[in-house]
Parts: sequence; C-alpha cells; structure tokens
Amino acid sequence: MKEGDPPKSDETDEGRLSELLVEDRVIEPSEEFKKGAIVTDDQPYQRAAADPEAYWAEWAKQLDWYKPWDKVLEWNPPDAKWFVGGQLNACYNCVDRHVKNGLRNKAAIIWEGEPGDRRTLTYWDLYREVNRFANVLKAHGIERGDRVAIYMPMIPELPIAMLACARIGAIHCVVFGGFSAQALAERINDSQAKALITADGGYRRGTIIPLKHDADYAIAETPSIEHVFIVERGDFPLRIKEGRDHWWHRVMQDAESYCEPAAMDSEDMLYTLYTSGTTGQPKGIVHTTGGYMTGVLATTKWVFDLRETDVFWCTADIGWVTGHSYVVYGPLAAGATIVMYEGSPDWPERDRFWQIVEDFGVTVFYTAPTAIRAFMKWGKEYPNRRDLSSLRLLGTVGEPINPEAWMWYYETIGQQRCPIVDTWWQTETGMIMITTLPGIGKMRPGSAGLPFPGVETAILTDDGEVLETGAGYLAITRPWPAMLRGIYGDPERYVEQYWSKWDKATYFTSDGAKRDADGYFTLLGRVDDVLNVAGHRIGTMEIESALVDHQSVAEAAVVGCSDEIKGTAIVAFVTLKLDAKLSVDLEAVLKEHVARKIGAIARPQRIIFSGDLPKTRSGKIMRRLLRDIGDGRILGDTTTLADTSVVEALQRQYEESEEA
Ligand code: WTA
Repeated sequence: MKEGDPPKSDETDEGRLSELLVEDRVIEPSEEFKKGAIVTDDQPYQRAAADPEAYWAEWAKQLDWYKPWDKVLEWNPPDAKWFVGGQLNACYNCVDRHVKNGLRNKAAIIWEGEPGDRRTLTYWDLYREVNRFANVLKAHGIERGDRVAIYMPMIPELPIAMLACARIGAIHCVVFGGFSAQALAERINDSQAKALITADGGYRRGTIIPLKHDADYAIAETPSIEHVFIVERGDFPLRIKEGRDHWWHRVMQDAESYCEPAAMDSEDMLYTLYTSGTTGQPKGIVHTTGGYMTGVLATTKWVFDLRETDVFWCTADIGWVTGHSYVVYGPLAAGATIVMYEGSPDWPERDRFWQIVEDFGVTVFYTAPTAIRAFMKWGKEYPNRRDLSSLRLLGTVGEPINPEAWMWYYETIGQQRCPIVDTWWQTETGMIMITTLPGIGKMRPGSAGLPFPGVETAILTDDGEVLETGAGYLAITRPWPAMLRGIYGDPERYVEQYWSKWDKATYFTSDGAKRDADGYFTLLGRVDDVLNVAGHRIGTMEIESALVDHQSVAEAAVVGCSDEIKGTAIVAFVTLKLDAKLSVDLEAVLKEHVARKIGAIARPQRIIFSGDLPKTRSGKIMRRLLRDIGDGRILGDTTTLADTSVVEALQRQYEESEEA
C-alpha cells in the first residue's frame, strides 16, 4: 500500500485487512444507554446534510461570542474561513463562562501525580490561576500573536499555561515532553517562540524526566527565547539563568488576579502543533479559534455524550492533538470535569488506570488501542481488582483497533454495559471526524463508523473516482470548522500535501479506508511513509535522517513492521560507511542516537545492518520488500529490483539476527 500504490482490498498490508474482512459482529448500545443519550435518533445527520452551514452555526451559538459572525463559511479552496467577522476568546469559553454560570465550585481538573499526590481545581481555582499566569506572560512582554512553546509533564500547570496563552491571544506550541532537546529546539526555531514554559521535571515509572535540564540544551540553540518559566514539580536539580529563567511560583506571587481576555478574531491562530509527515521536517499544523472551538465542543458533547455531571478521562498526553482537543478545549468548553494523570499505566502496578477510575468515579474513558492491547496482555486480574461500575462510555483513538482488542475492551472494561466509540481523526482535522454516536449507532468492532453529522468523507481511487463501497483513499470532501488552516510558515507545502492529490477542494488524509454497504468506514492504515507506533505519528524520513546523521551510517531505510502491542514496530535497515568503526554495541549506539535526536518514541526496535539496500532501477528504496522481510512474509514482487541478490542477502541476515 506504500510507494504510491492505491490500497487494494486484497492487499494484506499490515495483515489487518484480512482479519477485518471476516468481522461481521454488530453490537447495539444497551436500551438503558439509548434512553438517556443526548442523541437518540438519526435526525442530526439529516439536518446537517440538508444545511451544513446552518447546522454548524447552531453549534457555534453554544459558545460565547463578543461579536457575532457575519458569514458562517468563506470557502476559497483550499482556504476556509469559519464564522467570519466573529470575535471570541477560547479561554473565556473554557473557564469564565462556567464561573459565571453556576459551575464556579465544580471540579474542572482532578489530577493525580505518579507518586500518588493529588490536586483538584474547581473552575474558580482554574480561573484564578489562568488569570494570574496570563498577567505573568503579559508582564514579561508576551503579546497577542506571539508564540509560546510549552514543554511540560502532565500537571495542571500545562492546561493553565495553554489557557493563559489563549486568554491574551498568544499562540501556544506544545511539544510533547517525550521529545528530545533537539526536537524541541527545531520546533521552537520553526515557530520563533518568544517564551518557553517548562518544569523542573516530571515522574515516569518512578524515575524523573528532567525537563528543564533537557530544555537547556534546546535553549542554547534557540535565540528567539527571551523568557523561560519553570514549574517546580519536585526537587530536581537544575541551573537557573538569572534574568531569563523564572520560577512559576515566584512570578505568580506578584501577579494581578484579573486579566481581561482578548477579543480574538474567529480566524486568529489559537495554536500550532507539530506533527510528522513524509519529509524529515515536522509540520506546524495551524489551528484557529472560532471553528476549532465549535468543532471540539460539538464532538465532545455528542461523541462522548458529555454532560456537566460527567467525569471525563482522556488518557492522551496533552502534547498530542488528542490532549489539546479532548483533555483541554472540548471538555472544558463543555463544562465537564476532566481527569489528568501524570504517569505510566503500570506504575506502581498494572491496575493504576483502574484505581484512578475507581477513586474518581470516571464515567467516560477515552484511550488508545495500544494501551488496550497492553491491558489485554497483562490480563483481567488488574481491572477486576477495581470497581469500574461508574463507567458508562468508552472510546478509542489513534490507530485501527483490532476486533479482538475491541471485544476485550467491551467485555472486560465496559462489562458489556458501555458503548464504545472508535474515533478516527488527525492532528490536521482538529476534531473527531468518523465515529458512531453512542446512543444510536450500531457498533462494528474494528470499524470506526460514519462521518460525524456535518462532516463529509469519501473513498476515492487514485484518479479521484468516488467508490460507494470498497477500499481506496480516505478523503474529506467538504470543509469542516476545526480543519487546519495551514502549515506554519509553509503555505506551499500545505497545498501540496493536503489539497493536490485530486482537486483543491478535496482533502487527502493519507489514510487508506474502505466503505461498506451500510456506509461504515473501516480504516486500513497510512498510505504514506508515516508510521503509527503505539498510536504516535512518526515519519520514517525523520528516523532515517537521524540515523544518517551518525558518523558511521551511509544509508538507512526505516519501515514499520507488525507488533502485537504497539501496532507497529520501527525496524531500521542500515548500511554503514566503508570506514565506519565497527563495535559490538553499534546497534545500541544507533538506537540511542535516534532517541537523542528525536525522542524515545522514535527508538528503533531492531536495526539490521546490510551491505546494500534493495532499490528499484531508478534508485528508490523498496520499503515494501523491507516490510515483508521484517514481518517474515513471503517476499512481494521483486521484478523491479535492480539487484535481487540484495534482498536475499538481507533476508538471510534478518533471519540470522532474529535467531541470535
Ligand atoms: C490514525 C490522532 C484508525 C490515522 C488523533 C490518522 C486512526 C493518524 C484512528 C492521525 C482510528 C487515528 N482508527 N486509525 N480511530 N485515529 N488514526 O495526527 O492513520 O496523531 O491518519 O491524530 O492516526 O494521527 P494524529
């Protein structure tokens, strides 16, 4: 399915498709759930299809606006503007209005640190903290339109920092705490951020991740950074540079308690978030204010059936888009109570998540298939130790879920009581695009479902022919409010990457999918060189660039091979330079090198050294063959190979390394 071939339904690229094809189970939500659900019939689908703009405008009206919009949508493909002329503030919508509307003393954030420490912030607490930190930013010269980088563990100050930026109209750029200093530096330099918000450290599996210490390496290479704010999470050693570095708690002491929210234009940027693409350079995806807030509010309410009485736990790190949309902006705009947890699911024991569900009475739980597969492997014993009866709805996101894991989730965690929403979307889409609605949709394990009301998706062939049923490329055929508005600083790449495969009004998702007779979409994985490792997006080119950056490496090809838990495992095929110094631990050295350049999530699981790499006659590396070797499959078509002996040699080497 790679190398630009359109995906075919008979191609078992990740071995998943054949499995999905035999899956014909259909599960209905329980009568009890159906009765109490927010959406109880399919009328919204019809209403949205009849007049999508009027439908989205209804949602937008659920936000508070300083100035109403003049026009719902201005669509000059591929550029969309939503709620044109309207003014609002995202932070006001997530915080102030709830304080004013009777939710002042309701828990906004229930947080648990990995060592077991806990904090609960009411909407009023959140309001106070956000106002004060917004004033801190202003006092340090951060203005509307400035970019602010955030590199933090999962602690309440992370959403506080984001909301404070939104309050003054600064654009936040959150970098996942698991990324390396170099990856952080790249993102800061691309966004030209003026300030960095970080912490002395965070806890992960009982050890300390020294964020500020790591960030110091980044800041040495980022001249745009004028100020660094540091939250004191523990008592972790670090260096302070006077004048530039400020302790969060110190600067907060003197901050004024109220900061007027900035009236932002609907199309003003709310944030950028970097994600992997097909080149070595990550893309800063741009999201704006009015449309994004409308899209995340609508999907939070309907997909998660969310009300003010719910305790919503989305386990994603805020460093990824799932955390932006469904830890912070969606649920807080809806006035929900969110749960945040700092650490690892197996610390100190493998029932940690279920302990949190029990202790906080979590009602709606949203996680990734990779986590579910790990829970499944650990066994029922752990969830069975805890009372999960508060749960009423479950969700998954980030990668295709295999029906076996789906059923396990349904039976063991949901105890056959909770519907499951399998939500397909991307950093670029900002909001959930394909899913079932929990109160009405029949669920088919492994299939995401239907486009959300107001969203239009289709299966297209390479030539742009629409397939009513069957497999092809997944496309989005109508603008949607939370859609990306660009790639930061690179308008050409935006058009080329997303709006050039067919026509300028059709968005190319880079995913393969199939549509069934009932209109359900089943995702088949990426069709570009982007890997989905444990639900995280990593570009093969990024890892390859990191590898060839090492002095001993001449050439590298990275592919994703099947992995029971992570979905995909990173396997690198490496050719060494003739004068390379060989050492027994070179494999370990190279793995570490990649982790240092990008982050631990990009560390290859295996490295295969080879004298040459299989290439076509035109010199293109044939990744498909490498994947076949990695997966231990019978080799695919090798007729276009320049030198077939290369593959045979590689395969032998792989088998030997596996035996070793
Ligand atoms: C994949 C995460 C199958 C897909 C929100 C997409 C999924 C990429 C699903 C985006 C799902 C996400 N079923 N595949 N329910 N959800 N994906 O940008 O390949 O980190 O293109 O956004 O994850 O990853 P991203």
